[in-house]
Amino acid sequence: MFGSSLLSMLCTFVGVSEESPLGSLDLSKMRQGWGTPHVDQSVEGHPLTIAGRAFATGVGTHAASMLWVSLDEKAERFEAWVGVDDEVGKSTGTVEFRVIGDGKDLWRSGVLKTGDAAKRVEVALRGVKTMILLVSAGTDGQDYDHADWAEAKIVMQSGKPEAIEPPREEADVRTPKPGPKPRITGPKVFGVRPGHPILFRFTATGTKPMRFECTGLPPGAALDAATGQLSGKVSAPGEHRCTVTATNAEGKASREFRLVIGSKIALTPPLGWNSWNCFAADVDDAKVRAAAQAMVSSGLADHGWSNINIDDCWEIKPGSDDAMLQGEPRDPDGMINTNKKFPDMKALCAHIHSLGLRAGLYSSPGPLTCAGFTASYQFEEKDAQRWAQWGFDYVKYDWCSYGDIAKDDSLEELQKPYRVMRAALDKVDRDIVFSLCQYGMGKVWEWGADVGGNCWRTTGDIVDTWDSMAGIGFAQNGHEVHAGPGHWNDPDMLVVGVVGWGPALHPTRLTPNEQVTHITLWSLLSSPLLIGCDMTKLDEFTLSLLTNDEVLDVSQDPLGKQAARVFAEGDLEVWARDLEDGSKAVGLFNRGEMEADVTADFAALGRRGPQAVRDLWSQKDLAVVEGKFTTKIPRHGAALVRLTRR
Ligand code: GLA
Repeated sequence: MFGSSLLSMLCTFVGVSEESPLGSLDLSKMRQGWGTPHVDQSVEGHPLTIAGRAFATGVGTHAASMLWVSLDEKAERFEAWVGVDDEVGKSTGTVEFRVIGDGKDLWRSGVLKTGDAAKRVEVALRGVKTMILLVSAGTDGQDYDHADWAEAKIVMQSGKPEAIEPPREEADVRTPKPGPKPRITGPKVFGVRPGHPILFRFTATGTKPMRFECTGLPPGAALDAATGQLSGKVSAPGEHRCTVTATNAEGKASREFRLVIGSKIALTPPLGWNSWNCFAADVDDAKVRAAAQAMVSSGLADHGWSNINIDDCWEIKPGSDDAMLQGEPRDPDGMINTNKKFPDMKALCAHIHSLGLRAGLYSSPGPLTCAGFTASYQFEEKDAQRWAQWGFDYVKYDWCSYGDIAKDDSLEELQKPYRVMRAALDKVDRDIVFSLCQYGMGKVWEWGADVGGNCWRTTGDIVDTWDSMAGIGFAQNGHEVHAGPGHWNDPDMLVVGVVGWGPALHPTRLTPNEQVTHITLWSLLSSPLLIGCDMTKLDEFTLSLLTNDEVLDVSQDPLGKQAARVFAEGDLEVWARDLEDGSKAVGLFNRGEMEADVTADFAALGRRGPQAVRDLWSQKDLAVVEGKFTTKIPRHGAALVRLTRR
């Protein structure tokens, strides 16, 4: 107390000390994990109170929270009392407050929990150009992290502090353009059930026309040399090691491919597009066709992207005012109908297939979908039949209104509707990838495979912010033991490109480096990769993120080993996964606000001796090193390297 009053006396003496309460800044620039910032109130609008002590002024926020403030070297100091607001009651919020000046940590509160006394911050700011006020969510996620910057103020020598947008770096296209020679892309293994139609296309980059050959295919499987389309049916179970060759005017390329006729499908994580994150309820037949067309014309299909999935809102909507959505939800024989935005699903599927792509659809085990459209409850077999007749190859099955049907939240009740649909899908003569969506309830990763899921959402819905994407992605550690060929954890769809949940769309709010982190992490996590953007608006940077074959090879590696976190300290993390050829994919991440050196320690990765390090984004060999690999990673950025023994 004495120090601070002495300081303010001195400041008064030299004629400075303009005080700007934190609440006087433009808090629309503050980013936070939940809710919006409140001036002189907690995040939920109560008087600011920390461990029983009330504060008249300040800002109530919620971790993870960040505010960038321009000081222009005119500030004297920052002062506040910080802590978790009492409004969370007995729930435990765990946060850390930080004050960063020009890239250096000036002050850290250490971990503060619900009930901890308010902690005093007084930080000298002389010469600082930019200050960042951060509240991180501790290690237990962000639940109940109601964080108060109480009595917070910036004391200026002159001028005013100004809240600013966090920097958005220039988009740096690192993926090299494919060369003219053939290079085979996409999955190296494909599974199909005995007697079911094979739907797979060999893909390659390089000058067209391209011709494909494949030696070692079993009788019954047929290859269209001009398109690379593999079709036919094989009734005997077995694994066929083939060699696929792509030839064009510039040369040829070959590689091994395995066709596995057996009980498992989705042997690598699905790669495709889904309508929800861009169009949501605004989806229609024309938009789906345009997405399929763009998948081919943009070149994405030549990198192995193959699914075109319609999410919610294709069905009849009981009680809707919109004439397009009205009608009989089902035929008299119980078969489900589409709304008028989808006049002919069979024709739509045929069109998608004619482009060498696969088609996906959505439903809920309850009576209604999440958006209130007709769903599958008590019509599961009919729906599976209908989807198969139309020609669908993928279904996302979203819990939603089944919450009203389930008797309780026991594991048995959580699993039941998925078992019912699994049994229905098993009766149709088509392979349909079964995607469970119930946001992670009942630790679905522990039993998603047992109920016959090919993938299962591990989280709530993603949005295109750093907090959402990073919060979900970096929370996946530990789930890796439950993933493998045919059954994958799904931390939700991609939010790169032009997104928006329709009808108004906007470029993703993730910065370029955050988008690199997103694709790097999701590839390491063997997540289904479902592009969530308007495919007709792909820009060069977005395309570069989605067409890097060396990055996609990590996602599609046939071993199917999801990455685990091997190192975490503060904002820096290293995640790694084993690849089929004995090499290791390593992601180096910087979740912090300042550029930092991130080190992958080879002993922690279980790698001995010299390792060749290849940068997968730039597709360049970097060096042969022993012991460790260190690289600079920008704010919210990532590097992805592959280590191969020398
Ligand atoms: C839920 C799902 C989303 C999307 C919508 C559709 O919110 O998690 O991915 O499918 O429903 O209504």
